[in-house]
Amino acid sequence: MNKKTVILGVTGGIAAYKACEIASRLIKLNINVQVVMTKSAQEFVRPLVFQSLTNQPVVTDMFERPSTWDIEHISIAQKADLFLIAPATANIIGKVANGIADDMLSTTIMATKAPVVFAPAMNTAMYQNKIVQKNISFLKELDYYFINPDEGRLACGDVGIGKLADIDRIVENVIQILNSTQMDYKGKNLLVTAGPTREAIDPVRYISNYSTGKMGYAIAEAAVKRGANVTLITGPTHLTPPKNCNVIHVTTTEEMYNRVLENFNMCDVVIKAAAPSDYKPKIVMPSKIKKSDETMSIEFVSNPDILKELGKRKDDQILVGFAAESDHEIIYGKEKLEKKNLDMICINNILKDKVGFGHDTNQVEILKKSGEKKVLPLMSKIELAHKILDEVLDLMKHP
Ligand SMILES: Cc1cc2nc3c(=O)[nH]c(=O)nc-3n(C[C@H](O)[C@H](O)[C@H](O)COP(=O)(O)O)c2cc1C
Repeated sequence: MNKKTVILGVTGGIAAYKACEIASRLIKLNINVQVVMTKSAQEFVRPLVFQSLTNQPVVTDMFERPSTWDIEHISIAQKADLFLIAPATANIIGKVANGIADDMLSTTIMATKAPVVFAPAMNTAMYQNKIVQKNISFLKELDYYFINPDEGRLACGDVGIGKLADIDRIVENVIQILNSTQMDYKGKNLLVTAGPTREAIDPVRYISNYSTGKMGYAIAEAAVKRGANVTLITGPTHLTPPKNCNVIHVTTTEEMYNRVLENFNMCDVVIKAAAPSDYKPKIVMPSKIKKSDETMSIEFVSNPDILKELGKRKDDQILVGFAAESDHEIIYGKEKLEKKNLDMICINNILKDKVGFGHDTNQVEILKKSGEKKVLPLMSKIELAHKILDEVLDLMKHP
């Protein structure tokens, strides 16, 4: 990976001294760190400390340029792979949320196209202030990142939320965002399926499953961030689809089957994270089935097998499936990989703690057609989405 540049914006809070440790940690990870300090920040830590740690001049003033250095707000903004504002005062959050650019830091933030990450630190009452919270929510909606502060004893003596997030957590988040903003899927067409399907029994009832769509949506989101053209074919979920992807809503497995096949030829990669219903009632009753004391049985017939059909039609597309099993997952997963002509399968046991349907975390074993296996640890679905995309990229490079 090329050396990345993080612009570290330091603002005027008690936690400004902790930014020294952040700068030092990022440098040790071979990241180029350029520090921009606000006027207030310089009351807490002298620029010389950052200059010595980063071996670069520290930008402190918009109108005073060091003679050895041709920096200006636009060039800092352009060379950034990521902006980290740590600690972020209530003031800088408010300024950015309201489009104010009255010093070097706020101006460069406005001029950058790089991801901007705020690590707020302030007194609990300040953090809980409705204006601060409204500014944070508004910036989140605009895709600014926030690393939430920790709870604990604050410098002012209060105990509560507002302490700068743990430095390990800040560094981990920065690395994750830096990796996820690689545009390594630029120009690639991805088809992702997500969520359950529903099969009607009568006008008021249906059968379905516990899939919430979180895994598929996370994959779509990660792929969009990495530059892919993404088509997300989704069954009914309560999730908001990621921005900038083509979303196709379906209800039944047959609808999903048809939409997937229509889009298949245009794809480089298909990731089938949906849990379509394998069966549907043979007859959908036209009116509501009335309650009675008798037992009732419903006859089910098979739905079309989407993955199997894709496996048959597959040309040079990469085909990735999921196997959500409650037992013998590796055996069933391997069988599915072979039978359906997949390139890769992500196998999980849905009975394990924090794994599978509805959770924000997942743990899978990845199995490739070549026989290569990888057991991944429990991680957030968005992290896992990136790992899956890394493996798919590897398959594209070394089929
Ligand atoms: C001793 C002291 C500590 C402060 N600590 C914080 C803090 O932790 N968080 C915060 O949002 N503001 C804090 N402030 C207030 C900011 O310094 C003030 O709002 C300033 O205008 C921020 O400017 P800046 O955002 O340009 O750095 C503190 C002020 C003083 C005097």
